[in-house]
Amino acid sequence: MTDAKTVLVTGASSGIGKGIALRFGHEGWCVALVARREAKLREVAAAISDAGGEPHVIVADLTQEDEPDRVVAAATEALGGIDVLVNNAGMGNFESAEEISDAAYEAQFRLNVWACMAMVRAIVPHFRERGGGQLVNIGSVVGYIGYPKAAIYTSTKWALRGLNETWREELYPDGIKCAYVAPGYVITGFNDRDEQGTAEEREWALFPEDVAHAVWCIATQGSHSDIKEIIIQVQDRS
Ligand SMILES: NC(=O)c1ccc[n+]([C@@H]2O[C@H](COP(=O)([O-])OP(=O)(O)OC[C@H]3O[C@@H](n4cnc5c(N)ncnc54)[C@H](OP(=O)(O)O)[C@@H]3O)[C@@H](O)[C@H]2O)c1
Repeated sequence: MTDAKTVLVTGASSGIGKGIALRFGHEGWCVALVARREAKLREVAAAISDAGGEPHVIVADLTQEDEPDRVVAAATEALGGIDVLVNNAGMGNFESAEEISDAAYEAQFRLNVWACMAMVRAIVPHFRERGGGQLVNIGSVVGYIGYPKAAIYTSTKWALRGLNETWREELYPDGIKCAYVAPGYVITGFNDRDEQGTAEEREWALFPEDVAHAVWCIATQGSHSDIKEIIIQVQDRS
């Protein structure tokens, strides 16, 4: 256990979660990195170590029963306590109304909603014991609007925002803060996109670092401040 602050980031093997993990690692935090692809997690961990942070890799499929509990217990033990949980792991399928399969529905709600709930359920007793903590839920701008051919993905992000609203009111007396971060289009491998983005996307879209900046602001806010939501639109909306 060190004096450095600690963060647990789900979906830290790529994209936005990797960006968040790298940002906190570069700031010298101890970072628990969670996802299924161990080799990718080890690459992120190596970059954090090189920058002076302290990584700890936990390989897990968060949609599996009991895995969120195991992850929280393992991270708590490895880091000596958790200050911030970032619920970032997520997925999206895009299908028209008549094409939505039950399997795609189940998979998206399982990861984007159930796993986030199960992570929070597991960590709240730990936060209460420590006298507080910070939850960050990575939602989306589609958590506020309807988006064609994304009914289920959009619904999961509305559901996550509903959880965020409720947890805020339920948990603040125990010093537990809860924030919803809603990015617009970010260049990642999300939904089988090119991880580096196309040349055209790189002209206008957000980068994982933009989301990491918002999460960093939440994690380092003052003790009297309780950031509720950060919506990150792309600057060029033409
Ligand atoms: N990209 C965008 O435009 C955008 C915009 C708004 C919000 N978001 C949200 O941002 C979050 C991150 O997405 P991204 O864009 O960074 O996409 P991404 O690169 O595909 O990242 C998804 C992450 O989730 C992890 N993951 C997937 N299934 C998992 C499981 N069953 N158990 C544990 N980890 C799992 C993946 O790692 P493994 O495959 O190694 O498990 C990966 O690290 C998602 O919640 C997404 O909805 C994205």
